[in-house]
Amino acid sequence: MNLSSLLLIWYQENKRHLPWRETTDAYTIWVSEIILQQTRVAQGMDYFYRFTQAFPTVQHLAGASETEVLRLWQGLGYYSRARNMHKAAKMVVEQYNGLFPTEYNTLLSLPGIGAYTAAAIASFASNAPYAVVDGNVYRVLSRILGIDTPIDSTEGKKLFSTLAQEHLDKTEPAQYNQAMMDFGAIQCTPQSPRCEDCPFAEQCVAYRTHQTDILPIKSKKTAQRKRFFWYLDIWNDHYTYLGQRTQKDIWQGLYEPLLIEAPLSEIELLQHPTVLALHGEIVHLSPVYKHVLSHQIIEARFVKIHIAQENALLESMQKISDTELNHYPVSRLIDKYRKE
Ligand code: ADE
Repeated sequence: MNLSSLLLIWYQENKRHLPWRETTDAYTIWVSEIILQQTRVAQGMDYFYRFTQAFPTVQHLAGASETEVLRLWQGLGYYSRARNMHKAAKMVVEQYNGLFPTEYNTLLSLPGIGAYTAAAIASFASNAPYAVVDGNVYRVLSRILGIDTPIDSTEGKKLFSTLAQEHLDKTEPAQYNQAMMDFGAIQCTPQSPRCEDCPFAEQCVAYRTHQTDILPIKSKKTAQRKRFFWYLDIWNDHYTYLGQRTQKDIWQGLYEPLLIEAPLSEIELLQHPTVLALHGEIVHLSPVYKHVLSHQIIEARFVKIHIAQENALLESMQKISDTELNHYPVSRLIDKYRKE
């Protein structure tokens, strides 16, 4: 039997019932797909419900403030995705009269929508014949077909896109794409795939040749940049100070305490001109929080400082009472510090 028929039979017996599979509303599907690019289904579910409750339609999302959108996104990481969603929602309202597009090329023209998301929305919302290509698809196809072309090479990307499109069941694109995702998540997992009860066991090249642990092949290791953050968690009675990150860098749009980014020792930090100029009392020095992003490793420490009067250094920051603090979106790093 061919690949797509076996896959669809497997799906009938193993599919997960997920809320975004109960709808053909392109907006709702889009929200789910962007969230699921960030996180696993279990955690994504929670964000999906919160997001679609807060913004049930594209008009609701377009009408929200960026801070509200970021606040709901908080914890998912890659905040540019949330900002792009917000931009795309505004474009849909302005250019498409609030009707979320379902046509592949129109979808591609929206911010934050690439080939994967366009194929997912076009197939799930209108059964258009576009195969999704993501990490699951690379893994499943490279193993079953025994392909060792690196998935992060130009050649590999082209090859896997072509193969994915060739194997797509053109009569059932939505079912086929959903099946691929579940098969990758449940059966053909990155570590310890369940090959013993896999319908492809007989034909899977990786299984037959004992290569499931080396396929798919990735050629490059992404370089990790190390960064050192000292956050000054300044309090004046019940008020603290947060600045918004506006520079083109991680966490754009999120809020944070006063930051000194430098690889300083504790002693050097305590003698830093900014710290001295605060004339405050150091009440706590946190241990190191290690925060790993896809291309950066951040080592952060927090210095809690009490000040007794306003300081010119803090003029450009927002003064926020402790009761309002949770209206401001922050990175997961800062959230973790606050909760501890
Ligand atoms: N991951 C990305 N999209 C998904 C979907 N529609 N269902 C399950 N997992 C997914």
